[in-house]
Amino acid sequence: MTTYTLRSASPAKTRADAVVVGVVQKGKDARLAAGAEDVTAAFGRRLRPLLANLGVTGKPGEVVKLPTQGLIGAGLLVLVGFGKQDAVDAAGVRRAAGAAARAVANAASVAIALPADTPELVRAVTEGWQLGGYNFTAYKSDSASPAKNPHEVVVLSSIARQAAATTAFEEAQVVAAAVAQARDWVNTPAQDLTPPLFVESLQAFHKQVTKGRGAPKLTLTVLDEAELAEQGCGGIIGVGQASDAPPRLAVLRYRPRGAVAHLALVGKGITYDSGGLSIKPANSMHTMKCDMAGAAAVLQATYAIARLGLPISVTTFAPMAENMVSGRSTRPGDVLTIHGGRTVEVLNTDAEGRLVLADALVMATEEKPDVILDVATLTGHMVVALGDRVAGVMGSEEIVQEVLAAGQVAGEPLWPMPIPEDMDERIHSSKVADLAQHDWTRWGGGLFAAAFLREFTDGLPWAHLDIAGPAFNSGGPHGEVTSGGTGFAVGTLVDFARERAAQD
Ligand code: BES
Ligand code: MN
Ligand code: ZN
Repeated sequence: MTTYTLRSASPAKTRADAVVVGVVQKGKDARLAAGAEDVTAAFGRRLRPLLANLGVTGKPGEVVKLPTQGLIGAGLLVLVGFGKQDAVDAAGVRRAAGAAARAVANAASVAIALPADTPELVRAVTEGWQLGGYNFTAYKSDSASPAKNPHEVVVLSSIARQAAATTAFEEAQVVAAAVAQARDWVNTPAQDLTPPLFVESLQAFHKQVTKGRGAPKLTLTVLDEAELAEQGCGGIIGVGQASDAPPRLAVLRYRPRGAVAHLALVGKGITYDSGGLSIKPANSMHTMKCDMAGAAAVLQATYAIARLGLPISVTTFAPMAENMVSGRSTRPGDVLTIHGGRTVEVLNTDAEGRLVLADALVMATEEKPDVILDVATLTGHMVVALGDRVAGVMGSEEIVQEVLAAGQVAGEPLWPMPIPEDMDERIHSSKVADLAQHDWTRWGGGLFAAAFLREFTDGLPWAHLDIAGPAFNSGGPHGEVTSGGTGFAVGTLVDFARERAAQD
């Protein structure tokens, strides 16, 4: 366990094993960033040649450690690069704090002296550090060795005594914890996170969050396969029926007193996506345990919103199914009836996400929310379009704008995508059912999927976040983003709710 404190001490005098400072590139020079003034003063004229000799450039992601030889209170100075920014922004601070967290191993105590003179920056430092230091060792047999994370982390900030700073500091920890739990779920192998096992883990988590005095009040209900059939959820049933592990639908409700609005969240919870009979090639399958990242994000965002006590009602739907191959598989050509009665011709069983989302979206509309957001690792097309670090956002114009603004605050890159007119024709092209789930035109598949989802939103204000790219990091860590599940969208959803709760 690491304890975190926010303090306004001098980084030069602080007695910690290590002090983290930022480095900015100024022309050919590298200088210490805001927050490290005392360290710059303590090193005096020694600093410039020292940085030059060490080859410190200040480029983003660079981390250099040097022994301080008694010049400052801490024995180790950790220099983390910011790049060429004059005004260091929150995203840059978040990234730098994340990189630093991984670089500081074996220090029992760390003081972070990164730019933190606004509540936004306090939040960025805290979140970045906690997220960057995340690791997933549950399946490592040598994980008996103690965690490398320090016991004590002090975030230094000149505004540490201001209420806005302490609030930002505490809220950052709530959001970071939610992201970490979302990452844990995504990283858990699909064999241990089938729909029933996902529900078990969710129920255990729920119990822990809601127990005790002053704990947030949320209610969790779960529909099993029989109840789903009773509700006419043909999408969830159809996608899940080939698996030995039956599908589920988790519904999480947060109803605070004095709520100013009602937000519905829907997250794709395919615990494994083999593609079904339209089976995936082997090299597209090995990361498909991540296909429940949308569900993980909306659930964890809801818990975070409740823990923050935001005055906004939230109803969250997580349809869970395992998309497998067996004698019971849904076939291309089969027709499924979605909750509410509309029929869909399945043409590619690998386009399963939209089928489970359709049922859940219709259920969401029945709650008469003010706005619906859905989050899904929905299409490879979006990864082709935007790469693996940016999510696509589609839907009602004003809601898309609100989501983009929330993403800015949260430090998660999102980009607007259109739902062109002709998609409407394409989704209505089935000769046997109300809607076609897929067509064999390759182009614009992510937009087709959004047009399909829109059919189930009953004209309510809505946005769809396709997180197929950023939900899972197959490469090495960068900034606050670690390898594997990233927890993408948790922060954006929380900030969306925060912004909504602050209106009227
Ligand atoms: N889960 C995948 C999408 C995906 C791709 C997520 C890459 C994460 C990384 C989704 O269910 C899928 O298979 N989509 C198909 C849609 C197609 C059949 C219309 C795809 O992307 O090819
Ligand atoms: Mn699929
Ligand atoms: Zn999928």
